[in-house]
Amino acid sequence: MSLKVVILAAGKGTRMKSAMPKVLHRVAHKPMVEHVIDAAADLGAAATVLVVGHGADQVRETVTRSVEYVEQTEQLGTGHAVQQAVPLLDAVDTVLIAYGDVPLTKPETLQKLVGDVSDSNLALLTVNMDDPTGYGRIVRDTSGNVLGIVEQKDATGEQLNIQEVNTGILAAKASVLDELLGRIDNNNAQGEYYLTDIFSLAVEQGMTVTTHQPDHVWETAGVNSRLQLAELERIYQLNQADDLMTAGVTLRDPQRIDVRGNLTVGQDSIIDINCLFEGDVTIGENVEIGPNCIISNATIASGTVIKANTVIEDSVVGKNCTLGPFARLRPGAELAEDAHIGNFVEIKKSVINKGSKVNHLSYVGDSIVGEKVNIGAGTITCNYDGANKHQTVIEDGVFIGSCTQLVAPVTVRENAVIGAGSTITKEVAANQLAFTRAPVKTVDNWPRPVKKTPVKK
Ligand code: UD1
Ligand code: CA
Repeated sequence: MSLKVVILAAGKGTRMKSAMPKVLHRVAHKPMVEHVIDAAADLGAAATVLVVGHGADQVRETVTRSVEYVEQTEQLGTGHAVQQAVPLLDAVDTVLIAYGDVPLTKPETLQKLVGDVSDSNLALLTVNMDDPTGYGRIVRDTSGNVLGIVEQKDATGEQLNIQEVNTGILAAKASVLDELLGRIDNNNAQGEYYLTDIFSLAVEQGMTVTTHQPDHVWETAGVNSRLQLAELERIYQLNQADDLMTAGVTLRDPQRIDVRGNLTVGQDSIIDINCLFEGDVTIGENVEIGPNCIISNATIASGTVIKANTVIEDSVVGKNCTLGPFARLRPGAELAEDAHIGNFVEIKKSVINKGSKVNHLSYVGDSIVGEKVNIGAGTITCNYDGANKHQTVIEDGVFIGSCTQLVAPVTVRENAVIGAGSTITKEVAANQLAFTRAPVKTVDNWPRPVKKTPVKK
């Protein structure tokens, strides 16, 4: 037997008011349906079947995970939707039914349902709600056994008082599903084929239903509107903040951090407010990150201090570096340990070796910078000739005076010194001083311009 997960994702999501199918709207930058697919993968599902309908092509184009698709061309009800997936199931499979617009269910919760399934038992996830309006109610006998589910629109006045509701998430044997779905009809208030009808049919033929409740109600919350999407985003972010703090990371305010991807942070690191982490980010121990930093697909080694408003993308930062405030590492920046990158400095596709400093207002692109190099304020590498990019090599111990332009391709050899304001277009040898500088001209007693007095009308 193997586990297969069927995810319903055919609905339009009218209340989203969107040209995009609802399940593609994102939580933490990941389409909701991919959250569900990833949970299925965590459970070890042998296959995941997506039932698509509205915007099926868009869903196929957007989803990057490997899943099987079936199309439900007309949305005739949840029972009809699951039926479309039956041909892709083997009789012996255990099947979990999930929803593309319910993104936050924990794999542990789903696992409980899966573990309960047998040829004579169905498993169902329920929650108790103070206001159960709109949901299917769980009908039980006096001993508490599940008899079935009744939809809001089909419920009697008494049944409407039931506070235990159907989350829609269930697990059953494929053979059982197949047989029961073959017997449901659409003689109900909504004229739909209800998936929920399988429970009363199962009980009538002597089967049982076990129920589980999730640890948190939000695990079963679905998204029907942009407001609900924003609510789940906040819940998701707070959960990640909790995980970080549990792992020994200080967050100055757990309400003001956003993680859109996979963030790993070592102990005793401190993250100040309003930081955004995207993609795969790994941060070592004792790292300090100031407010308003954006870090995407990067590795930051232990002991590094990143000051406010620094933006790092596709880069590697070594131990004990200092960056910012207002530093920018663009793709391919690699800093070895003890590098200092200061304010308004942009580094792109360059290696900055141990102990080197680029502290003010510089651009270093397509370069290899040695150890203990000092690059003065306002220095830039002219790496682009309008057609091609060229490399600058700056060897160990070089001192580059402020406002230097290094016209690539160019090499500055070990321990050379470049005088301030130079435009370097050819190789500088080791230990040389190189400079290009216009002579200073002076004019004595220079008459300063005087502000005109406005003429009154
Ligand atoms: C369903 C349940 C209800 C439960 C509630 C939880 C049924 C009959 N009712 O009601 O007991 O309390 O979910 O939210 O199952 N879908 C399809 N194809 C269809 C119909 C629906 O893919 O033909 C998808 C929708 O896109 C949606 C999900 O299934 O993601 C649920 O459908 P919806 O119509 O919202 O069901 P509810 O009326 O909310
Ligand atoms: Ca719904």
